[in-house]
Amino acid sequence: MILKIKGKNQIQGELDIYGAKNSAVSIIPAAILCDGIVTIRNIPDISDVRIMLEILTDIGYDVTFNNHIVTIKKNKKPSWVIKNTKATSLRGSYYFYGAMLSQFKKVSSFLPGGCKLGSRPIDYHLEVFKSLNCSYKIKDNIITIKTRKLKASIINLPYPSVGATINAILASCKAKGTTYITNYAREPEVIDTINFLKSMGSIIKITSDRLEITGVKRLHPTDYTIICDRIEAGSYLLMGCIKKFKYLTVNNVDASLLTSVLDVILKIGGRYEITNNSITVFPPEVVKAINLETGPYPGFPTDLAQVLTVILLQDEATSSITEKIFSDRFSHIYELSKMKANITLDGATYQITGGSKLTKADMEASDLRGAFSLVCASLLVNAFSTISNIEVIFRGYNDFFNNLDKLKLNYSIIE
Ligand code: EPU
Repeated sequence: MILKIKGKNQIQGELDIYGAKNSAVSIIPAAILCDGIVTIRNIPDISDVRIMLEILTDIGYDVTFNNHIVTIKKNKKPSWVIKNTKATSLRGSYYFYGAMLSQFKKVSSFLPGGCKLGSRPIDYHLEVFKSLNCSYKIKDNIITIKTRKLKASIINLPYPSVGATINAILASCKAKGTTYITNYAREPEVIDTINFLKSMGSIIKITSDRLEITGVKRLHPTDYTIICDRIEAGSYLLMGCIKKFKYLTVNNVDASLLTSVLDVILKIGGRYEITNNSITVFPPEVVKAINLETGPYPGFPTDLAQVLTVILLQDEATSSITEKIFSDRFSHIYELSKMKANITLDGATYQITGGSKLTKADMEASDLRGAFSLVCASLLVNAFSTISNIEVIFRGYNDFFNNLDKLKLNYSIIE
């Protein structure tokens, strides 16, 4: 699918933000830990979520998904084998490992995929499972993990990995004894997953230096609403810093989760107003340079570095971004060079020199956040650019084309 899109002056509008993708993809498999009905609200309608629900259905759950509400109920003896090859297409499928180990003591699945952002090993996850008394084997892209009995452990993560923290929590919720996890990831989606598990009766204590999880035998039904997608909200807030915007409002957001992004918006010369659950952003008159590093929460999210790059192209000034989380999250640089953007990459740091005249271009999206950044870049030029493989954006942006309509943008889709 190709998106043909161009910029125009005086763009304005407001958009609704839904629940966090990275909460949804861990909370959906976490529902396996309950024997009764689980209701989860504010679930984004995105392809990663659809795949997680499809896998859950395949292994023996009754699943409904309407109006952003998911219900999940076991309907027969579930299978511990995931045969759906779509598990290889996203990262979050590995949360079935922790959840199914907790519930069935065994799991077999494909290795996870996800956006290509450099090497993305799962060694921390495997160490976590080993320390909780599991053994595993990997053959032909299929992993099988088993345990006789999950045993509580002391886990010191080598890095505060989001995925390894969540898998450690999922796998220890029903393990005998108390598991301690130090150097854990503090991303809001991790805390959201913990709050969901607590709403089903898990005993989890969060202290400043560790998580303490005391295993319980059973978890009870729950009705839980997940947090807003701070990355979706942050993406649109940065889009609103394109100088062709008059303003852009995002609704249904929790501004306290967006502090690092709002700080950056002020530093580059933009403004914002917060009212109740909405944030309105006003673009800078002249974009100021910034030098920043991406970092684990509450640092500036790696997921927003690509769209920030585009915003920094608008005025004459040289900024730098250092990518500290992933080894190769730079696909946008090559694509933006087709528009004659002046960006140079040296190791993990790229320098962005704004102010040069950008041209329309034919670009290709290869990862979710990169795709969003290419849409923003196309809006900088009042002539049609094209972005092929645009469907990758449906992995994480709810109602994306509808949102373009709400902003009255000029675009068409070539199937
Ligand atoms: N890492 C390892 N070994 C492991 C696990 C991670 O070396 O076993 C490394 C990774 O290669 C990476 C770093 O540790 O260099 C951080 O990875 P982390 O595990 O924290 O990230 P993730 O769980 O793979 C999640 C989000 C990403 C988000 C990152 C960082 C999900 C499904 N994905 O990935 O979201 O960028 O945390 O916040 O939760 C996105 O939404 O576009 C996206 C990529």
